[in-house]
Amino acid sequence: MAGPGGWRAEQAVSPDSPGSLRCRIRGVYATFSLGPAVPNAHGESLTPVRTKGKRSAARVPGGAADASVDLTRLLDLVAAFPRHTIAVVGDFVLDGFVSGEIARVSREAPVLILRRRRIESYLGGAANAVNNLVDLGARVFPVGIVGDDAEGRTLIESFRAKGVDVSRILRVRGRTTPTKTRFLAGWSHTTEQQVLRVDHESSEEIPAPTRESLARKARQAARRADAVLVSDYGLGAATPDIVRGLRAKRITLDSRYRMLDYAGTGVCAATPNESEIEDAYHQRVGTDTHKLEALGERALDDLGLSCLVVTRGKDGMAVFERAPADRREAPPPRHIPIYGSDTPVDVTGAGDTVIAVFTLALAAGATCLEAAHLANYAGGIVVMKRRTATVTRAELDAALRREATAQR
Ligand SMILES: Nc1ncnc2c1ncn2[C@@H]1O[C@H](COP(=O)(O)OP(=O)(O)OP(=O)(O)O)[C@@H](O)[C@H]1O
Ligand SMILES: [Mg+2]
Repeated sequence: MAGPGGWRAEQAVSPDSPGSLRCRIRGVYATFSLGPAVPNAHGESLTPVRTKGKRSAARVPGGAADASVDLTRLLDLVAAFPRHTIAVVGDFVLDGFVSGEIARVSREAPVLILRRRRIESYLGGAANAVNNLVDLGARVFPVGIVGDDAEGRTLIESFRAKGVDVSRILRVRGRTTPTKTRFLAGWSHTTEQQVLRVDHESSEEIPAPTRESLARKARQAARRADAVLVSDYGLGAATPDIVRGLRAKRITLDSRYRMLDYAGTGVCAATPNESEIEDAYHQRVGTDTHKLEALGERALDDLGLSCLVVTRGKDGMAVFERAPADRREAPPPRHIPIYGSDTPVDVTGAGDTVIAVFTLALAAGATCLEAAHLANYAGGIVVMKRRTATVTRAELDAALRREATAQR
């Protein structure tokens, strides 16, 4: 085909690799990779949608439990999940997925054309944490804002369909409900590769009266909950000011851009990922575990936390705890290897699942280490599911029972 600038392009699915498109543009051949086919645990070939380029760690065979973790105790905690109420204060997002096939190169410009096959929407960001908590059996009070648009309606209707109380979600006129739309190219029977993500959100500040109303609703929810989960994606609904005004039994934090701004707000535990803690201190951890431990201890102190869990993608988790009241020394940092496969299907929203399970476990009486182990099992399960997904209480229970059987 001829383009307007006189360039020529021919294209075909590469005979050598069905996951690639071979094109000739202006006489030069180029192969566009649509991602390697990665077989999952069920032998299906799926491509990880988001791998974030994290370092790989030595694969730890078998389960993730160490000898210090009592699986019967973890099972009891999971059984207690439905007795607890969690308030979620945060940025609700609608995750969109537009998928289709790439068949040819455009005549208008040297770009690939995605022939759309499917559009799907999922609860994302803080809404994903809510969704996970509901599927774990908890009662949930979401506190946040959406716009008066179709996406806001979808979010609220999805919550309602799951029996969630939406009375603390404000619909703000003229505001855009945050959306993150991924465009996925592939073939139904082979690969799927993210080629573009388009974000849409309001750039204006939340008006002061709305902020006050949000703070009031957050205070009200916090008083009635066993824990408050703060999910700050930098979109304005979760702020250090709102958190400072809460009276809560415990507050956990996942903040994408400003974890350290929550110092002195009453947060007791946080679950940053490794790059968030690196960004907070303008330092790179690389493969240096000592550096990670130094940053973890520092964040524990700076934020006045009793517990910090750093999620490290395929490298598992690092758990930092403050010294208990009756001891002078804090326990050393613990490193938990991932549960299950290190070849994830889709890691979208895994951090939301982690903080949901971690918070609910703390509310149910878990120690920091027990809560981290439960969150680690859930993280390992959720990355084997496509799209933004949840882990159910039954799935967590089954994973723990399988682990207990394997250890006998
Ligand atoms: N590549 C992987 N292999 C196996 N497990 C993974 C992988 N990536 C993530 N996980 C699981 O998911 C958990 C959370 O992942 P991660 O550290 O990527 O969080 P995150 O970056 O905060 O996620 P999010 O993008 O949702 O905010 C990990 O602790 C681990 O249990
Ligand atoms: Mg995260």
